[in-house]
Amino acid sequence: MSEPSAGRPEDYCARLREGWAVIADLMVFSVNPLGPQEQLETVLDYLQRLPWLKTRRRGAILLRNSRGVLVMVARAGMTEERAAWCERAAIDRCGCGQVAKSGAMAWRVCEGDLEREAVTTAGDGESTHFILPLADDGRIFGVVPVFIEPGHVPSAAEEAFMQDLARVLSGIMARRMMEEVIQVREMELEEKQAEVIRKLGAASEYRDSETGMHVMRMSHYAGAIAKAMGRSVEDRERLVMAAPMHDVGKIGVPDAVLLKPGKLSEEEFESMKLHARIGAELLDGDDVLMRAAREIAHTHHEKWNGTGYPAGLKGEEIPLDGRICSVADVFDALTSNRPYKRAWTVEDAVRHIRDEAGRSFDPGVVEAFEAALPEILRIRELYRDEIIDPRNGLTLPPVPEVPDAWMPWDDSIRIGIDVIDEHHRYLFDLTNDLHRAIHQRRGSREVGRVLRALERYTVIHFREEERMMERYGYSDFDRHVRLHQAFRGRIAEFWSDFRAAPLTIGFEMVYYLRDWLVQHIRREDSRMHELLG
Ligand SMILES: [Fe+2]
Ligand SMILES: [Fe+2]
Ligand SMILES: [Fe+2]
Repeated sequence: MSEPSAGRPEDYCARLREGWAVIADLMVFSVNPLGPQEQLETVLDYLQRLPWLKTRRRGAILLRNSRGVLVMVARAGMTEERAAWCERAAIDRCGCGQVAKSGAMAWRVCEGDLEREAVTTAGDGESTHFILPLADDGRIFGVVPVFIEPGHVPSAAEEAFMQDLARVLSGIMARRMMEEVIQVREMELEEKQAEVIRKLGAASEYRDSETGMHVMRMSHYAGAIAKAMGRSVEDRERLVMAAPMHDVGKIGVPDAVLLKPGKLSEEEFESMKLHARIGAELLDGDDVLMRAAREIAHTHHEKWNGTGYPAGLKGEEIPLDGRICSVADVFDALTSNRPYKRAWTVEDAVRHIRDEAGRSFDPGVVEAFEAALPEILRIRELYRDEIIDPRNGLTLPPVPEVPDAWMPWDDSIRIGIDVIDEHHRYLFDLTNDLHRAIHQRRGSREVGRVLRALERYTVIHFREEERMMERYGYSDFDRHVRLHQAFRGRIAEFWSDFRAAPLTIGFEMVYYLRDWLVQHIRREDSRMHELLG
């Protein structure tokens, strides 16, 4: 280390001032909710204002995940090779790992055997860098390597400045991580609430329902219609969450009426009609979701021409969510088997809905329903009630390919059981969504939401696959079920890693998901072909 002064005392004071101006600007700037990448780039840019420090626009942020591994969550100016080498540093290994253990800032040239290997294989010359520890309350949660000009030996003053910078960055990053954790917790709460809603909805629909698939289908149909109407993502999410409660008032309808196999008498029908009112009374919460659910429960049997119940509202007096749910609900009711009737064909049900535009239904909603039909028919297959017959063929309208999908679907991965292939394709879609959410840095809330959706659908898919195997006598059933269980266990692990340190979860997870899915489908699911005889 060279002498502390930078020549004359006035120069030294000037540098101190410049250094503190940079730190002050960083603190001010950090009130913006920056992701790690933006944060790193801002730091490196600001440091360029201090030419005497000789930092290069090169560095990284590594954070500890819940298992203590340092994961690179941002990098700048590093070659691919170098980054790949440093991507996952074990605690205690190489400079970064040692700082993550000791908590003491280091200035060093990569010089251990390990690091020499990194430098030579990465081929990016000498790697002189400061390694700043990130610590919160004595707990070291990451490191920030910042590279400086080769050959430059920092003065004690420069080192002191970097120590200050490390403290400031620790504060900024600790707050950022806390905010991400809070986002995930909020999302979890919403998801739990939605889960209760779905279960309650399913219970009220069938009383003894095992699968509760009607409310899944109906709420996703409603979401697809809302999408075709160009409604915002938030509006659609709220609708999909609230719709499952539309029939919660059926709790107040006697079994003799609800499950009657045959036409209802006038008196029975009056008692059935009460469910809209009872539902609205039950759902008396004050938050946005409960308000939406109440509105849907109350208005999903109103008709566009004013002949519906309970209030006989007409046209746009009926809230839009209610008008959408009414089409979604009727379509699913018509195309499902019920105690008192056989399912209609899709063509007949679509014709009926088209004929009722302007009478029962809002013509605008019917138009959107027709536009959304390819997606609706797909949802219908993804959430079936009955056990899948492996010979059951599908003719779905083509779903538009997502351009530039990270994990594109191709027909070579089909196993020849149409419904299962459709399930698999949907799992591909969800994995692509997850990749997109991570890649585009949409934030922990969005990543968590997609991860949950993927987890939920995996449960449904495995259950349906297993029900089919059991019913049709698959020879390797027990082992297959164990493979499914192991995968679910792995997802649960990802989830707990994610909860503990949301910023450190990312590509490792999507690569794992992709590889597992592709391999499992090709090696294991493809053997279900035996069920076709
Ligand atoms: Fe209803
Ligand atoms: Fe599968
Ligand atoms: Fe499987």
